[in-house]
Amino acid sequence: MSEENPNPRHVGIILDGNGRWARARGLKRSEGHKAGGEALDRLLDQFLDLRIPYISLYAFSTENWKRPKMEIQAIWSLMREFFSSRLERCLEKGIRVHASGDLSRLPAVNRKLILEVIEKTEHNRNLTANFCVNYGSQDEILIAATKVLHRRLDLAKKDKKKAAALISKSELEKELFTYPLPPVDLMVRPGGEQRLSNFLLWQSAYAELYFTDTLWPDFNKRNLMTALKWFKSRPRKFGGLLESQD
Ligand code: IPE
Ligand code: IPE
Ligand code: MG
Repeated sequence: MSEENPNPRHVGIILDGNGRWARARGLKRSEGHKAGGEALDRLLDQFLDLRIPYISLYAFSTENWKRPKMEIQAIWSLMREFFSSRLERCLEKGIRVHASGDLSRLPAVNRKLILEVIEKTEHNRNLTANFCVNYGSQDEILIAATKVLHRRLDLAKKDKKKAAALISKSELEKELFTYPLPPVDLMVRPGGEQRLSNFLLWQSAYAELYFTDTLWPDFNKRNLMTALKWFKSRPRKFGGLLESQD
């Protein structure tokens, strides 16, 4: 019998199913997003209890701009409410806030608030909560590659050979929005869909993928414990062999 994996260090969660949760109750989609925010509050406490140090939360994708203006505005307004009312809690509980995504397209108030929370929580170490807002993995990789390219163009003025060398993984990773977070060990998607929807494609190269039909606002401690139990039982080989296969 192979040994169980320890708890994951970094869990990614695609917060999906808010709209269907609301529709099932005859509520507006924005009510679903509100309930999603409440589920998130509960989950952060569970992560602190479990001492899992990194969590990445997919809150708004680069593709979500296709949604009706009204829904997008409701999301920004809920996000403002979330960050302004949670700062004290983050400080009390030692949560460090990190953000991934192009924040320049967000309403100025939201951007300012997120940057303020990041700054005020930067010395916290109990849990890093990476909020992925206006995030798309393909854009992230293109932006990172462009930054490396600019540096190489500068370098080419001094050393053409070095400038033409293959880009290393660590060189690119330093430019990703998620830097310095470690790779994702466990990716959880509530809401019944079985796809990544442009979330952490690079960082999830060897993540275990866990899908559940439970809608995000209903996702609770029991769902999380089931996902972790499943994760612990997965044979993680990273392309090698397990000792029992030698
Ligand atoms: C995810 O829930 C939240 C965001 C994309 C902001 P959805 O709004 O996608 O919920 P469903 O998938 O329509 O149920
Ligand atoms: C993924 O959910 C994005 C977020 C949860 C922020 P979507 O509902 O946007 O994804 P698709 O459209 O089902 O792939
Ligand atoms: Mg959805």
